[in-house]
Amino acid sequence: MPRPLDNLDKGSIKAWLMEDDPHELDCLWKKADEVRCQCVGGDVWLRGLVEISNNCVRSCAYCGISECAPVPKRYRMTVDEILAAVDRAVTNGFGTVVLQSGEDPGITGPWMAGVVKSIKSQTGLAITLSLGERSDDDLHAWREAGADRYLLRFETSDTRLYRQIHPDLDGRSDRLAQLERMRDMGYEIGTGIMVGIPGQTWDSLADDIWLFRHYAIDMVGLGPYIECPGTALAGGLGRALKTAAGDNQVPPDNLTTLKALALTRLICPYINIPATTALATIDPYSGRSHGLQRGANVIMPNITPAEYRALYQTYPGKAGLHETTDISLAVIEGQIKSIGRTIGRGAGTSRRLAGESLAT
Ligand code: 5AD
Repeated sequence: MPRPLDNLDKGSIKAWLMEDDPHELDCLWKKADEVRCQCVGGDVWLRGLVEISNNCVRSCAYCGISECAPVPKRYRMTVDEILAAVDRAVTNGFGTVVLQSGEDPGITGPWMAGVVKSIKSQTGLAITLSLGERSDDDLHAWREAGADRYLLRFETSDTRLYRQIHPDLDGRSDRLAQLERMRDMGYEIGTGIMVGIPGQTWDSLADDIWLFRHYAIDMVGLGPYIECPGTALAGGLGRALKTAAGDNQVPPDNLTTLKALALTRLICPYINIPATTALATIDPYSGRSHGLQRGANVIMPNITPAEYRALYQTYPGKAGLHETTDISLAVIEGQIKSIGRTIGRGAGTSRRLAGESLAT
């Protein structure tokens, strides 16, 4: 009897995550692709990603642009540079631009509100922000200025592990609470996790997937954890956490990430799920297309100017690093067409906020 795929609970999610029989996994891939097709269709939404600043006040143990990482140069794009990059999203027919940065106090509330207003009035694109943990005043101001969505990964639902890899600044860091507040402000909310963080166990990965549903998330990004030299997780902390997890340590590989992605599609059938850059980084040939065939329906092409892209290495060897924007885009569009999918036109709004009634 094949392992059931209906009425998944935390226990069966964990069993599926640990499954390695190729025949069983074929059933999982097929079901995730069917549910994706029925619930969000064949369009792949392209969201142009602009990495607007690599300044960061946090010292996350995994991240290559954290305050303590050896970054050759810190930058913050000017308003004109941001608007010029956003123009590439327009020229390429994308419906959304994603503005991402480290947690940078130099990005003030009013300055960012001005940027959002300019983009909205000049382009009408949907705007996604991914600027880390911010005050409610800033979040309200940006929403009022026209921001539509906010991405903030909770990284892991294991609160003890989270504290170890994401040192708190002021004792108030609670990403899940911020996500809920942003949903109440009218943002479409996106979150996500890294798969295979040192210390992450199968149980905690199953808990992560369960939480996506609990919080009525609109978008979930899942990528494999990629070790970044010079960070605490690449050193003693990472070794200690892996030793403590022992045989329960989740591997940071594509297969496990794809299983987590497919299960996320089954648990949250109507959400948007990107085939992430981290997936494409550890499997440059098929990472993205496998993601799209196992539940994903979004790609975020990087349209950051090349000189800044090289300085935004959250992990080493990030896909698209040495390509020009045009080549990256041609590769991505070719991948989408080669698997028989179409490129979505328009904003690709979450079906929760588009007011559609959801069956689950
Ligand atoms: N490996 C994989 N993903 C990473 N991120 C940051 N550092 C790494 C890494 N070393 C992810 C985090 C963050 C997102 C912007 O990039 O999940 O939320």
